[in-house]
Amino acid sequence: MSKPRVFVTRLLPEGGMQRIHQVCEAEVWPEELPPAYEVLLQKVRGAAGLVSLLTDRIDSGLMDAAGGTLKVISQMAVGYDNIDVAAATARGIPVGNTPGVLTETTADFAFALLMSAARRVVEGERYVKAGAWKTWGPTLLMGYDVHGATLGLVGFGRIGQAMARRAAGFRMQVLYHDPAADPGVAKQLGAHSRSLEQLLAESDFVSLHVPLTPETHHLIGEPQLRQMKPSAILINTARGPVVDPRALYHALHQRTIAAAALDVTDPEPIQPDDPLLSLENCLILPHIASSSHATRTRMATMAADNLAAGLRGERLPNCVNPEVYR
Ligand code: GLV
Repeated sequence: MSKPRVFVTRLLPEGGMQRIHQVCEAEVWPEELPPAYEVLLQKVRGAAGLVSLLTDRIDSGLMDAAGGTLKVISQMAVGYDNIDVAAATARGIPVGNTPGVLTETTADFAFALLMSAARRVVEGERYVKAGAWKTWGPTLLMGYDVHGATLGLVGFGRIGQAMARRAAGFRMQVLYHDPAADPGVAKQLGAHSRSLEQLLAESDFVSLHVPLTPETHHLIGEPQLRQMKPSAILINTARGPVVDPRALYHALHQRTIAAAALDVTDPEPIQPDDPLLSLENCLILPHIASSSHATRTRMATMAADNLAAGLRGERLPNCVNPEVYR
């Protein structure tokens, strides 16, 4: 029997690719940049599976372009705001994602951003390489202490909780804002619930760990930035549009907050003339928080497992719309 046909929107880490090739006839988009939407429309036609990334717009038009053959959409990411899940559910198509495996790796990186911004690591490195370092300076590149400071976690799911565990080692006070959080877990981690307003006012570091939804779009805008301390640092490893970028620029430029460290931007990639790029007190990284060798490989194999299950008509090990099975 011939294998089902699948389109894979980019070359994934090797472990995942091997598994994908075992279970289907895979066409893999070979370019560094994602396929244009029009290309996706063509490639998905008659496909039984689609392996997608957060850079692909997967909407109802695309699902319809498949022509009724699509049995599974498997995304190699935990976030899936690029996918119209309701449209997939309406068509009975299960959507897979890769939660859990990237929790600790992403929290490692969020903490690295927190420390880099607090202690001006990147500015310092640039200063040395620019040949500006002439002597030990009594006030040279003074930053903010991490130990003993207050960390505010907006979103207290898996990654927010992993941040709280790291913060304990630095004897930080941990606050969280998440109406859906389990108070028992928070208690175990020594984290204290606050309204968003209180959290912003009390925290030295505010780290975002919410998915992008209509409710969290621009959750941090001008009024919220105004509530933060002038010495506060904002860390975003969630999704760019959770922060209003213009409001952030003004807050950083006017120094109404001290600094920001962003692994995600709006849009992605950030445009070369974006004013945020001109600021010394804004670190910007290219959405790499989950990018360790081990984690990206595990994400790819999880995506392959979701794909394989979907192609066999079995329940996906990690399915974001289990309603399709009712
Ligand atoms: C990365 O941002 C992911 O959602 O996995």
